[in-house]
Amino acid sequence: MSMSAFRIRCVAVAALFVATAATVAFADPPPAAQIKPRQDKLRDMGGALKAITDEIKKGRIDWDNAVIPNAQTVKDRSVYILNWFPKGSGPEAHVKTYALPAIWQKFDDFTKQGKQLQADAAKLQQVANAKDEAGLKAQVQTIGKTCKACHDPYRSPDYEKDNEE
Ligand code: HEC
Repeated sequence: MSMSAFRIRCVAVAALFVATAATVAFADPPPAAQIKPRQDKLRDMGGALKAITDEIKKGRIDWDNAVIPNAQTVKDRSVYILNWFPKGSGPEAHVKTYALPAIWQKFDDFTKQGKQLQADAAKLQQVANAKDEAGLKAQVQTIGKTCKACHDPYRSPDYEKDNEE
């Protein structure tokens, strides 16, 4: 290969890289546009966990129609939670959000909390699939604490105020 052919090839490869990077950048919606979908998904997760709690309260647990599919939802959501908080999707996005700036100031800690949720949700799914009632009751308590441990520092207390019944 001549030097100039080599150079043309390098330029072509570089151009391809730029094009790919641009596609990836455009494929991601801007941070502000991710707030509403993330809240919807968090609400789904909250609804799924509540549905499991309701089964426990009812006393006659419907594993196949309620607990197992809802544990699956919690697990699925937990896997992605850490992708939902890109930089720029806090209050500075000027879209209604309860996400506090502390998330991005202490992102390592926030990530740790997200990973804890993933571990707890995996365990929740395990005990659900095993139809282990004692295990389920214990794990619902455990995961509930993990939700709260992240909400306390990273979600505005206005959320509770705005959602009072
Ligand atoms: C890693 C941190 C973290 C964990 C863990 C976490 N959350 Fe959240 N959650 C947030 C943040 C931050 C918000 C605020 C998001 C916003 O308003 O943009 C939120 C918001 C919510 C909302 C309100 C959504 C809305 O606007 O209607 C619900 C419901 C919710 N979370 C449920 C849960 C449940 C249930 C769990 C545990 C199974 C959980 N979260 C675990 C960080 C977390």
